[in-house]
Amino acid sequence: DRPILIAPSLLSCDFARIGEEVARVEAGGADWLHVDVMDGHFVPNLTIGPPIVKAIHAAARIPLDVHLMISEPVRYAEAFVDAGAHVLTFHWEVTGAAGTGAAIEAIRATGVPAVGISVNPDTPVEPLEPFLDSLDLILVMSVFPGFGGQKFIPEVLTKVRRLREMGFEGLIEMDGGVAPATIADCAAAGTDAFVAGSAIFGSEDVAATMKEMRRLAAE
Ligand code: DX5
Ligand code: ZN
Repeated sequence: DRPILIAPSLLSCDFARIGEEVARVEAGGADWLHVDVMDGHFVPNLTIGPPIVKAIHAAARIPLDVHLMISEPVRYAEAFVDAGAHVLTFHWEVTGAAGTGAAIEAIRATGVPAVGISVNPDTPVEPLEPFLDSLDLILVMSVFPGFGGQKFIPEVLTKVRRLREMGFEGLIEMDGGVAPATIADCAAAGTDAFVAGSAIFGSEDVAATMKEMRRLAAE
């Protein structure tokens, strides 16, 4: 049986009360905390760096799932691992066919428990084939990265099914517009980890929303 991992994206939380927000989703049953790191270069937005990740880690009891939307993931990998990243995910669009093997090795060498790669909605998954055995997680973006609150792009579900057909047995994570209305299709395609920012933090009762999402993913 595949796991169901609910990962609230802190991008949609109240950053002035981040410790309380972490405690709120942990009490509500979150499995991971999804942390979006943006550099204003790979994506047109800026968020947080290692010092804030470290502060989140100090407040957290569950693993940090750190999503690097940055142009130099290898350069900063160690800093994010030292800050407490449990999963460290970089983008295929940054490293490409020529650089991905070395990037995986470099990130693995930090000792991080899990190494992930992410693909944008318009990036095919077939080129990942040589790297499947060395990856713990593949993050399929269901919106173009940069901002929370965007609409889910259902066409990416084909890529989740394709990765399973290709024999990938690691974790597949979906990020962008994941909500009660879209999570069942993600799960049916073969997704294990579900990132949701606006759907969770924008709801009145984060615990009830996560419980509902877990129920729909299990169907
Ligand atoms: C988008 C980020 C997402 C974002 C998801 O670039 O990678 O993690 O926070 O937000 P929602 O769930 O609102 O689409
Ligand atoms: Zn993300």
